[in-house]
Parts: sequence; C-alpha cells; structure tokens
Amino acid sequence: MTPEDLEHADLLLDLDGAVATITLNRPGARNAQRPRMWAGIARILEELGPEVRVVVLRGAGGTFSAGLDLGLLDPARPDEDGNFIAVLELDDQAIIDRIGIYQRPFALLADPRFITVAVVEGHAIGAGFQLALCCDLRIAAEDARFCMKEPALGLVPDLVGTKPLVEAVGYSRALEICASARVVSGAEAGEIGLAQVVVPPSELDAALAATVTALTAHPHGAVTATKALLREAPARSLDDQRLAERTAQVARFRALASG
Ligand code: CAA
Repeated sequence: MTPEDLEHADLLLDLDGAVATITLNRPGARNAQRPRMWAGIARILEELGPEVRVVVLRGAGGTFSAGLDLGLLDPARPDEDGNFIAVLELDDQAIIDRIGIYQRPFALLADPRFITVAVVEGHAIGAGFQLALCCDLRIAAEDARFCMKEPALGLVPDLVGTKPLVEAVGYSRALEICASARVVSGAEAGEIGLAQVVVPPSELDAALAATVTALTAHPHGAVTATKALLREAPARSLDDQRLAERTAQVARFRALASG
C-alpha cells in the first residue's frame, strides 16, 4: 500500500523483518473504525510477504479503538464510506453481503500464515473489542477497558467477535459480557482467559517484545501448521482431528528430512 493509501485508511504500517505492525491511526476519534480502515487492514494482510511471522495490531494515542465510527449510524451525517442507515434501502441479501465484506479483515486475522497479536490499552469497544478478539493473542494493560457495546445500541456483535469470545471465555461468561455490555478490565481479561498477557501500561512494549521473541523462536513451518491445527480443532471430531495431526506431521517429517 502507498503512504497515501495508508493515510486514507487511517492506518500506519511498520514492516520489520518477521514482524508487521498495523496501527489504527485515528487518535482524535479514539481510533473509531470506518469501512476504509477495514479495507486497508484486509489489503495489508493479503499483501504481507512470507517473511512475516507475527502481525501486531495496536492503536495510536493510548487507546486501542472506540469501535465503529458512530457517525456511520447517524442519518444526518453522510460519509464517503457510506452511511449505514442508507444501507437499509438494500434488500436483506445485499446487506448480508455488504457486512460480509466488512467482516473480511477480521476473519483474515485467523490466517495460519502468521500469528496475530492485539496490544490493548485504553478502550476496546464494540468493533474494537471484536478486532482484538479476532487476533490469536491479546496483550492488555491492566487498566484496559473491553466492552461489547453492540447490545446496548440495539445491535449484535457482527464483526466476527462472537466465536472467539465464546472460545476464549465459554458461553455463559460470553453472554454475560455481551448482554450486560459491561466493561471488562485488562486485569479481569487476564483472569478469564480473554488476555494472555496483562501488565501495567508502562510495560506493554516490553511485554510485546518478549512475546514476539517467543513466537518467532521456532521453525516457521511447524508454528504455522500448529496454528492451523489448533484453529480448526473446535470444528472437528476427535477422530478427524487425529487424522489432521497425522497428516500435518507427515508434512513436517518431509520438510525436516529435506532440510
Ligand atoms: N465514533 C466516532 N467518534 C468517536 C467515537 C466513535 N465510536 N468514539 C470517540 N469519538 C470521538 C469523539 O466524538 C470525540 O471527538 P471530538 O473531539 O471531535 O468531539 C473524540 O473521539 C474524543 O472522544 P471523547 O472526548 O469521548 O474521549 P474520552 O477519552 O473521554 O472517551 C470513549 C472515550 C469512552 C471511547 C468515548 O468516546 C465513547 O464512549 N465513544 C463511543 C464508543 C461507542 O459506543 N462505540 C461504538 C460501539 S458499537 C460497535 O463498534 C460496533 C457496531 O456494529 C455498532
């Protein structure tokens, strides 16, 4: 992507060897998300080279993301991204297809080619919470504030966040968090399995560096194949998962044997 494309998408991209860092860069609006940002994230992920092993997602200005740009829900504020209320003129299937496009970058974060890490400080609200959920790991500041705000707005979380939330904390806790739209602190996120690393805000960068070092220490092919196995495990029967393990191991044996 050109610098102009990145600026239009409200994103920063830093490519440093095996690590790509995508920064939501709209701090004046608390990194509120618009379709142009989603399209930009999708394009970056699709264009990453094979050398990238870890993708870090973070927000500029001390907060992760305040979620959907609420201007998109205001019929009085048309936006070049398209006003979401205007979308209601389309038939149901067309709206479903449109949301499918918006979901694309969230789904791409599961790509086994790389491990995705969200660094969450400040707020992760609605679409921000879902973006963090779609990453493989979350490193959170103790005082981070996760909130699934959609039900409070009369909506459902529709940006790929419901499945990883249930998988991270279980159905009952997921429902409690969503239905109440309450704030989950970074400290609680660590206790319930929503965040894998929780540190004081001043230690976020050091925690990220240590995590990246650990995630890039071992053979890339083994790590990507393991991510694929783990990602697909919940949808498989035990017998199918055993077969997937055996099949993946054959590929690893052959890769090791061929040097
Ligand atoms: N959309 C657009 N602008 C936003 C925004 C959002 N989601 N969140 C914050 N901003 C803007 C504010 O309008 C304000 O702009 P101005 O300076 O031009 O007035 C600026 O960011 C700073 O905001 P605050 O002064 O409110 O900052 P704060 O630090 O005191 O509070 C906050 C931060 C708690 C995130 C608060 O701004 C807030 O509650 N924002 C709204 C959060 C929200 O409801 N998001 C939608 C969730 S639902 C969703 O994402 C998915 C979906 O499908 C609907």
